[in-house]
Amino acid sequence: MKFLVTGGAGFIGSAFIRLLLGDPDASRRVVNLDKLTYAGNLENLATIAGDSRYRFVHGDICDAALVNALVAEEKPDVIVNVAAESHVDRSILSPAPVFETNLRGTFTLLEAARTHQTPRYLQVSTDEVYGSIDPPHEADENYPLRASSPYSASKAGADLLALSYFVTYKMPVSVTRASNNYGPYHFPEKLIPLMISNAMEDKPLPIYGDGQQIRDWLYVDDHARAILAVIERGRAGEIYNIGGSRALPNLDVVRKILAAVGKPESLMQTVKDRPGHDRRYALSSEKLMRETGWTARVAFEDGLRATIEWYRSNTAWTAHVKSGEYQKYYQSNYGGRAV
Ligand code: NAD
Ligand code: DAU
Repeated sequence: MKFLVTGGAGFIGSAFIRLLLGDPDASRRVVNLDKLTYAGNLENLATIAGDSRYRFVHGDICDAALVNALVAEEKPDVIVNVAAESHVDRSILSPAPVFETNLRGTFTLLEAARTHQTPRYLQVSTDEVYGSIDPPHEADENYPLRASSPYSASKAGADLLALSYFVTYKMPVSVTRASNNYGPYHFPEKLIPLMISNAMEDKPLPIYGDGQQIRDWLYVDDHARAILAVIERGRAGEIYNIGGSRALPNLDVVRKILAAVGKPESLMQTVKDRPGHDRRYALSSEKLMRETGWTARVAFEDGLRATIEWYRSNTAWTAHVKSGEYQKYYQSNYGGRAV
């Protein structure tokens, strides 16, 4: 089976490619199309870079000529669209690239899949499209869309566009909506890697508002297995939620990190809240488990321990991704946010 994976140099895309090619005997081929934005990093794929089943193409999913030529040449069995501008805070600071990649990029891929009759298309999406969910409810796949940020609105739009290709053109499209991921190779702009990295460097840990916002944590390798399960056993035209079944307030997560890294809670620093901040995410993955047999394998405490261990052993990776552009981003997001 040949996979065209977009955004394969990012956090989740690279975990998915490492899963696909992790078995040296698997008769899979992978083409990775990635623009290498600030979040794309070929070091994430160092373990498979020399694999003869793997090809990297440096390019933009919004580039229709490139995408068309690539799909015509490679004739993938499945397109897995993982590429995105993925960070809510950046989408608030600068929404334009979010809509370009997340909407136009998805449209470009769908059109190429339609033109070349690609047998399967998977759109990787997020539980953020459901917006904040009041307790005790959890979202199933029919829950109303109520996006709060430019990021989540762009993902919701892309989901609807992808599903419209199933309805209108009978294209075999599925959509997955995962909860918050964590794990190795996570860019240190998101909560868990940022807190690990700042704690290791004795820097302040910025807590948005009261820190009681709830997220449902999913280990990235469990997410990668779920994507594969949907490709292999999911139905076209369907949406599949992928939750981690471990809902925690942010403060609890940060306290666990500080305890594991051996640093004092005085490093936590309350800062001005994120505009439009969703209070709680809660997801039912019952449909995915029932239809594909998938379950999350990694318990949060085990996954967090493994993640912290990975950051301890990969300080050069973190130093590299935190140089240059990251410093500017950090200043524009956190500067002047003290309360
Ligand atoms: P990431 O920011 O780590 O990686 C994104 C990748 O896409 C990078 O390699 C980047 O270079 C590439 N990319 C960006 N724009 C591109 C373009 N125009 N053309 C080609 N490549 C481009 O993101 P992630 O956290 O790995 O998220 C991947 C996907 O999973 C996204 O669609 C996101 O919405 C979704 N998702 C993420 C999470 C999470 O917790 N991180 C949870 C649920 C869903
Ligand atoms: O739910 C899935 C989504 O999870 C994905 O679609 C997104 O791509 C991914 O970025 C993530 O979005 P969140 O906004 O939930 O993740 P983030 O790590 O940015 O924030 C998690 C929580 O931590 C949120 O309540 C905001 C809070 N936070 C975050 C940062 C970066 C802080 O309190 N301080 C921080 O410095």
